[in-house]
Amino acid sequence: MLLSGCEPKHSLKPIPQIIKENGQSRLMVDGEPFIILGGQVHNSSSSSSLYMEPLWEKFTRLNFNTVLVPVTWELIEPEEGRFDFKELERLILGARQNNLRLVILWFATWKNGQSTYAPEWVRKDTERFQRSMTEDGKLVNHISVFSEETMKADAKAFAALMRHIKTFDEKDRTVITVQVQNEPGIRFMLRDYSPAANKAFASQVPEKLMSFLEAKKGELIPEMLEIWSYSNYSVAGTWSELFGNDSELMFMSWYTATYIDYVTKAGKNEYPLPMYANAWLYYSNYRIGRNPLENWPRGGPIDIMIPVWQAAAPHIEALAPDIYRPDFVRVAESFQRMGNPLFIPETHSRTAPANVFYAVGERAICFSPFGVDNLLEDHPLGASYELLNNLMPILTEHQFKGKTRGFVAPKGETKEIDLGKYLVRIEFAGNENLNLDGYGLIIELNEDEFLFAGNGYKAVFIAKPGDDSETEILEAWQLIYKDNEWIKERRLNGDETRHSFALLFRGQRPDVKSVRLFSYKGGMRHDGYRI
Ligand code: DGJ
Repeated sequence: MLLSGCEPKHSLKPIPQIIKENGQSRLMVDGEPFIILGGQVHNSSSSSSLYMEPLWEKFTRLNFNTVLVPVTWELIEPEEGRFDFKELERLILGARQNNLRLVILWFATWKNGQSTYAPEWVRKDTERFQRSMTEDGKLVNHISVFSEETMKADAKAFAALMRHIKTFDEKDRTVITVQVQNEPGIRFMLRDYSPAANKAFASQVPEKLMSFLEAKKGELIPEMLEIWSYSNYSVAGTWSELFGNDSELMFMSWYTATYIDYVTKAGKNEYPLPMYANAWLYYSNYRIGRNPLENWPRGGPIDIMIPVWQAAAPHIEALAPDIYRPDFVRVAESFQRMGNPLFIPETHSRTAPANVFYAVGERAICFSPFGVDNLLEDHPLGASYELLNNLMPILTEHQFKGKTRGFVAPKGETKEIDLGKYLVRIEFAGNENLNLDGYGLIIELNEDEFLFAGNGYKAVFIAKPGDDSETEILEAWQLIYKDNEWIKERRLNGDETRHSFALLFRGQRPDVKSVRLFSYKGGMRHDGYRI
């Protein structure tokens, strides 16, 4: 018999978590695997619940499961020590009443490499909350990473925010993840030149960073090895002695990540939701050793700084790219190195209906285009999200096992994907009406059976190189989602499978087909015969 004093007051749903196992990551919400199919609102939208009111329903009709919304330091702590969480509560209620989850974006010391979201009492007091400085001693619109007062004040406010979210939302878990700061780093300068920064730059590189690099040397990304090769992998020295022309980037990354980790830890001590940091990417490939001064913030979690961020910010679970660059696939790949989960908090909405298939197929745990307030209700993103939501349990199960693949490419391109016993060639056709590339994903159900989803492509089953066996479709079905389950609608054969060699995805909306394959030795393997 339980003594009444030992009974739990109420049983809570498990707290959201990012689980990492064998190089795969999985976001858990209410104890179930979850992929964020979301959208991020414009910067000023969530300052007003009135403005947000009509948007919740629209987001539901677009089949979002989550909305990413800023919560700003200036609004929650207008005077030092006086907190106002009214609008935050209304935001949470708005989402909750519409069955949507929230990712809270903490705009505080950093927003796009500047400090415009710090409260007035912080921004005005440049003595107490020191700014970064130019080489000739001018103050800039960026609080210095060496300003301990600001770091502590930011952490205090963030802790108060997380404490409040816990009190208000712990029972419902509407808020599932938090972004700490926004696109951190310093813009227009290679580094901070304030006296404290100059002193740190002339000092020895912290031992904590060097022991991390040394311990991980075997798994370091090649860019980091190249940067470090400047000193022939020495483990002691000043920033410029160890890293030459890339020393400012290494320096700003280390101190920015250290600052953000301090803030993150303070928040997690109150309510340990998963937390990530997002990156404003560099525009072209960073040229190691040449230190180009382009307009992107130095110090943020860009792909080539993954090891530095991992060493300095162990409380951050994901380093997340804001992908506005056209080479979406390359960026997504480069952010999955060294065990980093693929978490995309911002991207273009125009390409999102296609890119989300690639991202989810290639293990993303969050996909979210930016500026979704403006989307029309018939935006094709709604159809993509609908299909992926309907696939969710099977998708999350196989994604975590590494049994999904995603693809996206313009018309005319082809891509071969190894399916174990079989090989498939994706021939991309795109969709001109919708101005979209061809896109899709594959779920491997077992070694002979697969689900294919997407639109604007043909999947042609071909023999593996050097193998004299031929592959044919034994059974293919058009699937449709009805009464909460996927059912077989039509058996596909003849023209619809190009006589047992291909699956065709050429509609106005993405769809799902299942296929069972087999192979036999001594096949003819002649493409002209097949198509
Ligand atoms: C990236 C930022 O993170 C967003 O807050 C917003 O400013 C967009 N850029 C605008 O394109």
